[in-house]
Amino acid sequence: MRLTEHPILNFQERRGKKVTIYFEGQPIEAYEGETIVMALHAAGIRVLAHTFQKDRPRGLFCAIGKCASCLMTVNGIPNVRTCITLVEDGMQITKQKAKPKLPTTAKPPKWKDPEKIDADIVIIGGGPAGLMAAIYASDAGAKVALLDENPMLGGQLVKQTHKFFGKREQFAGVRGVKIADILEEEVKKRENIKVFLETSAIALLQEDDTKLVVGVRKNKELVEFRGKAVIVATGAMERMIPFENNDLPGIYGAGAIQTLMNTYGVKPGDRVLIIGAGNVGLILAYQLIQAGVEVKAIVEALPKIGGYFVHAAKVRRLGVPILTRHTILRAEGKEKVERAIVAQIDENWKPIPGTEKVFEVDVIALAVGLRPSIELLHQVGCQIKYAPELGGHVVIRDKRLETTIKGIFVAGDSAGIEEATTAMLEGKIAGIAAALSAGIASPEWLKEIEKAQKELDEFRSGPFGRKVLKGLEKVVVE
Ligand SMILES: Cc1cc2nc3c(=O)[nH]c(=O)nc-3n(C[C@H](O)[C@H](O)[C@H](O)COP(=O)(O)OP(=O)(O)OC[C@H]3O[C@@H](n4cnc5c(N)ncnc54)[C@H](O)[C@@H]3O)c2cc1C
Ligand code: FES
Repeated sequence: MRLTEHPILNFQERRGKKVTIYFEGQPIEAYEGETIVMALHAAGIRVLAHTFQKDRPRGLFCAIGKCASCLMTVNGIPNVRTCITLVEDGMQITKQKAKPKLPTTAKPPKWKDPEKIDADIVIIGGGPAGLMAAIYASDAGAKVALLDENPMLGGQLVKQTHKFFGKREQFAGVRGVKIADILEEEVKKRENIKVFLETSAIALLQEDDTKLVVGVRKNKELVEFRGKAVIVATGAMERMIPFENNDLPGIYGAGAIQTLMNTYGVKPGDRVLIIGAGNVGLILAYQLIQAGVEVKAIVEALPKIGGYFVHAAKVRRLGVPILTRHTILRAEGKEKVERAIVAQIDENWKPIPGTEKVFEVDVIALAVGLRPSIELLHQVGCQIKYAPELGGHVVIRDKRLETTIKGIFVAGDSAGIEEATTAMLEGKIAGIAAALSAGIASPEWLKEIEKAQKELDEFRSGPFGRKVLKGLEKVVVE
């Protein structure tokens, strides 16, 4: 179902021209500018595929192109990530049931003679980290190519309707969606930044001192980006937890639910159970209520709520129970979620028999943390270390965010899970540092790096920063 009214967002204004797409031959109403999966969800279609071996139903999970849960056949081409592919009038979409075959009649993709883009700095990822990196690298004099596989810039910010904390210069009091608009405007103002949307970086390579990023645009054509330096700002991937039937359609990462309702104005369901009472789970509960969805409860395995008190108090005032020391045992449903079974756990994290509770829900939201997206850094050979405080495996880097490979930088959630504010500050540092490393920025710019480093230290000095600082001790080298 599509949302028509929302206290903050105006979807009527945002929706493009009405078009028709075909799902299994049936016409579906869609709007230009939205992704295939969003149009299918708006029409009540949640089962997107069945697994080849066990014939289990599959549905949307991450909504940002990172999990392969939404692969469908589009216009005869199999394995299309429908969560980041925009609708086009007349598109034919089918579910994949058996191992898909490549069409014999389709024109093969243009693999030979790819378009070649030369820049001083290539930035992968247009979230808050990548956008700030582009702005500062450009101001320091560099020619920048910025690519993102999603159809819009902003990364996770485009779905955050709440106002940010922090200082005024760090956008405190401004909603995440607005911050994304402001940064995008700044990027557009700069002629030396070229943006490539719907372009996935699939390889990061070194050719002598030149870095090569291989991109695929709109699932169709190869683009080669060459630069003196590369900044990887690919963000993070939502975590999954083990429980029975955790693959049923209707079990979404928290970010996917935000994408559905806050970016595309599609109601994720009617009754939701949230797993995880950190800030993401608490904010999500509030945003679901704003969109007119009932939140049955928030379940948290730890003995206390992990998020800010102010968020928890707001959610409780709205009548949502927060069950600490509880976990989800299983999801039930035939083709999609119909209910969830939850139980209390003891100090050894074992479910206590007899404490089971049944929640009649059609959506289970997993807000159980993120892990950094480091695949490209791993592939090119950057040294990696496990730092659970930063969300898992991250790359070793110096204070200017240069990795163990000269000229390859990292920033934001892909460097370790934190927040948009720290992602922006890291983006600024990496952008300037990359321009310095490429021999473009003047030494004057070092002052700006020091300023951003000071702001980062201040931001991390609070109670929530302690864990991050412990993680950074393990991976930041001189
Ligand atoms: C519910 C929720 C609430 C939050 N609230 C706050 C808050 O109040 N304050 C705060 O400071 N932070 C908040 N955050 C955290 C914040 O959103 C993230 O820390 C921040 O967005 C990280 O920025 P980033 O640029 O590193 O990554 P992202 O914003 O994730 O951007 C990464 C970008 O890289 C692109 N990308 C990834 N891989 C590729 C590839 N191979 N090729 C091309 N492009 C690629 C993606 O499409 C994406 O656009 C919240 C997060 C959530 C989920
Ligand atoms: S890749 Fe589309 S839902 Fe994860």
